[in-house]
Amino acid sequence: MTAAPAAAPTFDKGLANTIAAETQMSFIDGGKGVLEYVGIDIDSLARNSTFEETVFLLWNRRLPTAIELSALEQDIRAEYDLPAEVWQMLRETPRTAHPMHMLRTLVSALGMFDKDADTNTPEANRAKSIKLLAKTPTIIANFDRHRKGKPMVKPDPTVGLAANFLWMLNGAVPTAAVAKALDVCLILHADHGLNASTFAARVTIATLSDMYSAITTAIGTLKGPLHGGANEEVMHMLNEIGTMDNIEPYIRAKLARKELVMGFGHRVYKALDPRAGYLKTFAKQIATDTGNERLYEMSTKIEDLMRAEVAAKGIYPNVDFYSATTYHSIGIDLDLFTTIFAMSRISGWTGHCMEQLDGNRLIRPGASYVGPHGVAYVPASKR
Ligand code: SDX
Repeated sequence: MTAAPAAAPTFDKGLANTIAAETQMSFIDGGKGVLEYVGIDIDSLARNSTFEETVFLLWNRRLPTAIELSALEQDIRAEYDLPAEVWQMLRETPRTAHPMHMLRTLVSALGMFDKDADTNTPEANRAKSIKLLAKTPTIIANFDRHRKGKPMVKPDPTVGLAANFLWMLNGAVPTAAVAKALDVCLILHADHGLNASTFAARVTIATLSDMYSAITTAIGTLKGPLHGGANEEVMHMLNEIGTMDNIEPYIRAKLARKELVMGFGHRVYKALDPRAGYLKTFAKQIATDTGNERLYEMSTKIEDLMRAEVAAKGIYPNVDFYSATTYHSIGIDLDLFTTIFAMSRISGWTGHCMEQLDGNRLIRPGASYVGPHGVAYVPASKR
């Protein structure tokens, strides 16, 4: 039987209407505002799971037994520490570097100290995924200490990933409530279909490059304010607005200038992003417990105004809108917000890289040439 003729290629700007991969990790129904990880809705996971259990679910397509979860937790904790050379690189990193520039650089550096960096077997890539997941919090927390002139704090292999990050960041054992709040945020940010940074990671690994290169690509992609950088922009906006009275004039002026209100809108969700719905409830509790009620009240007033003005266009709060209040309330500096997103999304990025290699095909779309033809070469002396 002869193969069906290939369909004529069509230009799909921003790939908004293109399916570029199949995945078993997360399902999104943008019209209904549904997100599931391997079929389990995000609300159930946020209420009942832990980040490490969610990582197992995403990588293995099922929930772990208690023994399997304990084994993964031990594997991750065994990798919290950094190569001595990377600790030294941390100490020599410019204190004024934006944390996402730092993270992109030092995660990339990790690849130089891994003898299996270029081995693409499933076993080697699972081991690298664990290393990347485990070491990223150590890098982020200790960069913040370095830039503030504080001594480095070694990771604590007796606690989970969220509690370990807060221990190193603050040099103090976090309260159970704050550690839980971060753990839930890590669950909510772990994976989300073929978002820009995940797609970028897949493009890189599909060339049979390596996991460190793919995650470096993803970090650079996440940094943009249209993607993971939006949570920092939301906090900048809340600080810029300053008071409840200034919300309406500020937002109306932005909309009138056709400017984007950060933390709203989504390429896929045309209903409320379920993560935003969960984070809103969560942010209220955390903000109240930490004396940040005003931030929460400002956020809900902005949401009410945006819903009245642009919900008809399918523009609702996304994951970044209420995560800003949550991160601020648990004491995370504004310019670290996107690194927290990255710390979580490394689980999704590595999962997608392993999925891409299982039946890989180079990802190489076409481009429609719109330039001239038949142009004569003119010697420089005659130009
Ligand atoms: C994340 O893809 C993922 O899954 C990403 C993510 C994940 O988990 O990985 O969910 C995480 O990146 C969330 C999104 C964070 N970004 C922001 O909050 C930045 C602000 N949002 C916008 O930049 C925008 O909504 C995008 C980029 C998220 C989506 O843009 P699209 O799909 O390209 O839509 P568009 O820019 O063509 O907008 C359609 C219309 C336009 O108006 P018109 O020209 O038709 O009149 O909606 C308007 C836009 O101006 N619009 C907004 C708006 N977002 C869209 N207007 C005001 N404020 C906004 N935030």
